[in-house]
This record gives sequence, structure tokens and C-alpha cells, in this order.
Amino acid sequence: MRRYSKVIGTGAYLPEEIRTNDHISQTVDTSDSWIFERTGIKSRRIAGPDESAASMAEIAARQALAAAECDPNTIDLIIVATGTPDRVYPSTGCLLQQRLGIKNTVAFDVQAACSGSIFALSIADQYIQSGAAKTVLIVGSELCSRIVDWTDRATCILFGDGAGAVLLSASDEAGILSTHICSDGEYEDLLYCPNPQAATEPNKDETGFIRMRGNEVFKIAVNTLGQIVDETLAANNMDKSEIDWLVPHQANIRIIAATAKKLRMSMDQVVVTLENQGNTSSASVLIAFNEAVRDGRIQRGQVVLLEAFGAGFTWGSALIKY
Ligand code: UT7
Repeated sequence: MRRYSKVIGTGAYLPEEIRTNDHISQTVDTSDSWIFERTGIKSRRIAGPDESAASMAEIAARQALAAAECDPNTIDLIIVATGTPDRVYPSTGCLLQQRLGIKNTVAFDVQAACSGSIFALSIADQYIQSGAAKTVLIVGSELCSRIVDWTDRATCILFGDGAGAVLLSASDEAGILSTHICSDGEYEDLLYCPNPQAATEPNKDETGFIRMRGNEVFKIAVNTLGQIVDETLAANNMDKSEIDWLVPHQANIRIIAATAKKLRMSMDQVVVTLENQGNTSSASVLIAFNEAVRDGRIQRGQVVLLEAFGAGFTWGSALIKY
């Protein structure tokens, strides 16, 4: 009998401060209408000075644990997806482990930019299917506001902070049906964030802010996500009509709408959170998933397609029977 990874709990955290498009328009040459029309974003959350990827991850993780009524000590693997770790090392996974007061578990980070949570889901599913783990905590946690150049209108309008969590448990009942992840390192120049301390010539003087050629990223994202959707359906011998919910990475409403169109899904079947959150990178899919589980849109037994695309490029999907 196949051993599945079943979702037993979800959680999320969004910082208190709301930064609107109008607020950003006061410091860079942009407008609420331009941002909303081109991206679907109206505001984003910004973490306070005492918040970090680990602190936000802890809140989201504790929510997921509470939803599952799960004792943290039963977790045998923690994977944190983040591009904004508190420290280079220890990993944010280890910091989260310490915050949750757990010993005798494996904890590490995954760095796959905006696709990080999908990569984490894929790794977790391999561990569970193989029998190497029974209960896995996955968190995507991002402080994008700290790596955004607030003078660059091409990027500062897009990103926000937050964390999302999901708890998986080994089960005989269907759960994750398949995951599909891929990377292509040819596209470094289109979307990257320097690490000044480790930089070598000729990049020594770069600051540690996100740099993106948005329009080029946009086109590749739309095509690639269309392909990953086809690949996911084919691998499961499934028709588009069998998917109940699309939970996409929240980068741009026009990218999301293109994927929904490809699936012939109405936008009512798509979980969209970016209007008031912006792009929270690796956290976005798990925050959106949590929202739709908690507000009752996603019901037990329904089929949910999660997908993401990010720097690298990296991309991936997870098809889940919730
Ligand atoms: O999550 C990881 C993956 N990331 C993404 O998927 C992001 C993908 N890219 C995008 O979402 C979009 O490309 C953006 C929202 C970043 C930009 O939208 P666009 O429709 O691709 O605009 P563009 O870059 O082609 O720029 C169009 C014009 C340019 O002016 P000119 O050259 O036509 O005069 C830009 O300078 O819009 C200008 N522009 C702005 N105007 C007002 C660029 N940013 C802004 C801005 N406000 N914030």
C-alpha cells in the first residue's frame, strides 16, 4: 500500500504594519493605479524591527501544530524555505527547532527563492513515502522588505513579509498525489539578490537588494507554469476539470490569471491573497493555502494544485488531495 503525506494542519503569520501603494508612491515615481493594474497588489505587510524569519516561522508553525493537535515532539523533520534567513548559519530550521523546544529531529533550510515551499513539500514527501519520516513541519518565512531596494520602483512595489506553515503526517489515505520540481540556473541575471559579504570581483560593490528584469521574468513564468501544470496533470492521468482549487505563488495577478485560464478554471477557484500581501516569496503559497483551508473554501477530499516560480529559475507544483 502506498504511504501518503497527508496535510494535518496549516498556519500563517502576517506582520502588523500595512504598507499601501499610496505610501510607496510618496517615495518613488509610481501610483496606486499603475501598481494595481499591472500586479493586482494594493498593499503589503512589513515586519517590525524585532521580527525575523525564525520568529514569524514560529508563529505560523505553532498555528499548524495547534490545528493538528500535534505534540511538537513527534516532528521528525523540519524544513524551512527562506531567502532571508536570520543567520547564514545555523539554519532557520534549527532556530525554529530551538524555538519549538524540540530535540532529536532533523532541521534544515531550503533555498529555492519563491519556489522554496514547493521544493520543501517535495523533499518532505520523499521522506514520508520512503518511511524515513512520519511527521514533517514545513514553513516558508520571508522578510522581503529587508532585501528590497525601496528606491527601485521596479521591485519595491511587489514584495511583502510573512510566513506560512503546513504539517504533514504519514497516512494510508490519499494526501500529496505528486510533486514536480525543476531548476534552470541559466537565468541568474534576470532575478537575483547579491550576498555582498561573499561577493567576488566584479560584483564586490553590489548591495544586497533584489534585482529583477520583471518583464522577461514574467514571460518565462507564464510559459513555465503552463508546462508544469500539464506535466502534473499527465503524471496523475487527470483532467483539468478534476482540480478543485488552484493555489498559486502570489507574484502577479496576470501570471495567476494566465495559469487559471490554461486550466480553464474560473478565478473563483483560485486562491488569491496578493492584493493585501504582495509577493511573500517562498511563504506565499502556504499562506494562501492556509487562508483557504481556514475560511472553509478548501474542503477535505478536494484536489488542490499548488504551484510556484522563482529565481534560479526554479519552479514546481504539488498536487494534493486535501
Ligand atoms: O516571484 C518571483 C517571480 N517574479 C515575478 O514573477 C515578477 C514578474 N514580473 C512582473 O510582475 C511584471 O513584469 C512587473 C509588475 C514587475 C512589471 O510589469 P510590466 O507590465 O512587465 O512592466 P514593464 O517592466 O514592461 O514596464 C513598463 C513601463 C516601463 O516604462 P516605459 O519603458 O514603457 O516608459 C517602466 O519603466 O512601466 C514602467 N514602470 C513603472 N511605472 C510606474 C516599471 N515599474 C513601474 C512602477 N510604476 N512601479
